[in-house]
Amino acid sequence: MELWSRRKFFLTSLAGSALASANELFGRTTPNGHAAGSLANLVTPAQGKRPLIISSANGRHALDKGMDILKRGGDTLDAVVAVVTVVEDDPNDDSVGYGGLPNEEGEVELDASVMHGPTHRAGAVAAVRRIKNASRLAKTVMENTNHTMIVGDGARRFAVAEGFEEMNLLTEHSRKIWLAWKAKTSFNWRPGIDSPEWKAYMSSLFKGDEKEIAYAERVIAHPPTGTIPCMAVDAKGDISATTTTSGLSWKIPGRVGDSPIIGAGCYADNEVGAAGSTGKGEENIKVCGGHTIVEMMRQGKSPTDACMEAMTRVVHNYKNDKKKLGTFHLYFYAINKDGAHGAVSLWRNGYEASNQASYAVHDGTEARLVPCKTFFDEAGGEQ
Ligand code: GLY
Repeated sequence: MELWSRRKFFLTSLAGSALASANELFGRTTPNGHAAGSLANLVTPAQGKRPLIISSANGRHALDKGMDILKRGGDTLDAVVAVVTVVEDDPNDDSVGYGGLPNEEGEVELDASVMHGPTHRAGAVAAVRRIKNASRLAKTVMENTNHTMIVGDGARRFAVAEGFEEMNLLTEHSRKIWLAWKAKTSFNWRPGIDSPEWKAYMSSLFKGDEKEIAYAERVIAHPPTGTIPCMAVDAKGDISATTTTSGLSWKIPGRVGDSPIIGAGCYADNEVGAAGSTGKGEENIKVCGGHTIVEMMRQGKSPTDACMEAMTRVVHNYKNDKKKLGTFHLYFYAINKDGAHGAVSLWRNGYEASNQASYAVHDGTEARLVPCKTFFDEAGGEQ
């Protein structure tokens, strides 16, 4: 199946100067937990099947990898890390790992966490630079240290000591978009007003590619917080989870989102289930979304209802003020020990207003997109 990056998706939709029809989009996955698919084609699944693996929509093409591990009787943490590693390695997904959009200084900084249900262990890294596979690094923190979280340059040095390859995580694409962001937001990082080049600067940066320019304009105006969470339960009922991200684009160096925070962007309890999140991490951190969702499931709520409870707390923090809530988007995802799953998005749309927010599910047959239940039944939310 053809994988569409979010970038290509935008370029296409913007190039058409109109939102593409749902039918045109069906079958193509955009990263960042946002689906390009028509509602008619999104099938509500049977609940309660094991083994089961789910992720944000940008992981659909990689879920087979995790399901193969689960079917062979492999460990659930190996399965979820295998899935997100595919997305971390993908230079066309500019929300995670290699090619992620950088911080305001042009450095890609990654956050990730893992939780292993059977042993109730956790590991995390935050604001780590130059190491592509942050999720595997978080797993290494869990397995090889007496710590739960390592951050910043300490995390990079730990990775090198553990044999991870150091590399520049900026692709040409993400570097140019960062330069365009600098040009738009700083008086200094662009030709002076006396320069005949000024008008043509964006065009020269992107070699006249109008689609690239349109995409750059979009992510400059609406900094994305793309991420991939992945959760699995195997045939025995063992559960693990991971979440990995390049975080908020153009962030202040050192900014850490919810993805590496155990109990916010990722949580698993082998007796109950697991939860993860995408979208504006700051809002999730304030409600400890991952832990809240698992505790709600422990009290008997379905994964969807448990996600809805966490989202209700986020909305309550803004007294239901849609204007303020409209400045961000947020998604919660959950599975329980029986193999039931669910997800809730704050707004109806995915990354584009025309698309239904959805998530990716594989319960043994094939990976597919399933609609999120929405808190507000209308489009909204920055990324
Ligand atoms: N949810 C990803 C972030 O806020 O960094």
